[in-house]
Amino acid sequence: MAAVDRGPELGATKARHTVSLSLTINGKPWSGDVPVEEPLLEFLRVRLRLTGTKRSCESEVCGACTVLVDNRPVSACNYLAFEADGQSVLTIEGLARDDVLDPLQEAFVRNIGAQCGYCTPGQIMAAKALLMENSNPTRDQIAEWLTGNICRCGAYGAIAQSILEAAEEYQKRKGQPVHEAGRHLSVDEVSDTASLHEAQKKSQA
Ligand code: FES
Ligand code: FES
Repeated sequence: MAAVDRGPELGATKARHTVSLSLTINGKPWSGDVPVEEPLLEFLRVRLRLTGTKRSCESEVCGACTVLVDNRPVSACNYLAFEADGQSVLTIEGLARDDVLDPLQEAFVRNIGAQCGYCTPGQIMAAKALLMENSNPTRDQIAEWLTGNICRCGAYGAIAQSILEAAEEYQKRKGQPVHEAGRHLSVDEVSDTASLHEAQKKSQA
């Protein structure tokens, strides 16, 4: 009787479909094996428990999953983890430094640049990439840049205003140590005062 072909052994399948990955996540090195087909979004949210990056359309339309790879914005839902090998990934969790929010985060808090907050991490990471490329964008340029970041709550006006104010703050801080440039909110202050932060925390749960 002919032997039934059961395909490769489980171990062999694993060996064939995993790939070694070394990268930096929010300034910290990470190395290990990942399935070759694992999206960066899955890698961040499930493997590393970095749930600030949101899952929504999973088809590179809404921008909720935007993170930076070597300072370029990518949709983590349609970007394989192994493609980030040797690169530096920045997520919303890596934006605050030494417990001090990034000017973009401060501006979103100040302007209530969100309602439900679900799109906010993606909006902020996309805006970060914009301000790295263009430190003084117009409102029209902001609107054009963010066409790939959908806000179902329609908070676009406050989002654009937040980005304009963050651009100004970055300009002021140029060449200065971040703690010497104006008023900064600590993460604790923000959690006391801002409904946006509460919304973000809920959306990350
Ligand atoms: S979840 Fe990735 S673009 Fe919508
Ligand atoms: S604030 Fe709700 S989707 Fe943008």
